[in-house]
Amino acid sequence: MLILAIETSCDETAVSVVQNGVKVLSNVIATSKQSFEASGGVIPEEAARKQVECIIPAIRQSLNEAQIDHHALDALAVTKGPGLSGSLLVGTTAARTLASLWQKPLIGVHHTLGHLTSPWLEHTEEPIFPIITLSASGGHSDLWYRTGHTKGVLLGQTRDDAAGEAFDKGAALLGLTYPGGPAIEKAGKNGDKNAFAFPLPLHRADTLDFSFSGLKTSLKYTIRDLPDENVTPVLADLAASYEQALCNHLLDRLKKALEQQSDVKEIHVVGGVSANATLRSLVESTFDHITVRFPQNITYCTDNAAMIGSAGFFLVENYGDKAYEPFTTAASLPLSAVVRNT
Ligand code: KG4
Ligand code: ZN
Repeated sequence: MLILAIETSCDETAVSVVQNGVKVLSNVIATSKQSFEASGGVIPEEAARKQVECIIPAIRQSLNEAQIDHHALDALAVTKGPGLSGSLLVGTTAARTLASLWQKPLIGVHHTLGHLTSPWLEHTEEPIFPIITLSASGGHSDLWYRTGHTKGVLLGQTRDDAAGEAFDKGAALLGLTYPGGPAIEKAGKNGDKNAFAFPLPLHRADTLDFSFSGLKTSLKYTIRDLPDENVTPVLADLAASYEQALCNHLLDRLKKALEQQSDVKEIHVVGGVSANATLRSLVESTFDHITVRFPQNITYCTDNAAMIGSAGFFLVENYGDKAYEPFTTAASLPLSAVVRNT
């Protein structure tokens, strides 16, 4: 099954052609992130305008790189939400228009289901359920117990900021540019991760939820207490310690989930934050007795359309024609809509 997928939930205009949920024939990603380096975060109105500029060229390029004509497509898939309304409207309008013009069915995909499916892209060995998935991005941080591609339950979610948001806000406090994850990773590369102490949120609480706002506040006070509030002399140590603290919290939640779910066969870590090298090595070294997977390619960690094409394929596989039912675009969509528990 050949799907043309479109993802425009934030500041990436992504279009991909995916075969049978796994083989990526093209993966075009036009990003407007550089425009937001100075502002420290995405400006929704500007991101939507960039989406309008990029969407048609990205669709053309994706079909060209896949070396297919639209007649060969079996369906289209598009991110229906959550995300920035203006950005989402560009992608869903393009997808609806093309689906109607080309007379192809259209699948609306929850953005988070795309991330959950991303380790399937170009995999070499078939993953085995049940799987615990940690999904950590700029807009969400959640923990899932999955019994199938589109089946499972939500174990925990963030009570305040998302993990990527904590990187982004922390970077702004440190005077680094957006997006904060790669900036903090780079700044802390040769720093001492134990130089500054940060708390381990919710460690003793009876929950699998996340909370990042306390870590961010702790960073703010650490900076306030520096001589003259001057970050420069300790930037590497501070970035490394803060990055380690964010990763420790993610790892702590994973460990707790594994203690509670004894039948788990694999651990998956997905979303923009799964590109982080410290997180990857922490998870790999902690769970050396169980298969750990990340998206095969760093471009499948951050927002991309290949994951939406993959999720669209599995929705059709699991729900048949129901996967094509009409949907509305929504800036906010509940996590309960990501997977089903039966
Ligand atoms: O999945 P994504 O592209 O978009 C959302 O769905 O939100 O994730 C973007 C987030 C940003 O907050 C960014 O700072 C973070 O992922 N990120 C990273 C890294 N690369 C991207 N965080 C930590 N380390 C990285 N290397
Ligand atoms: Zn995302």
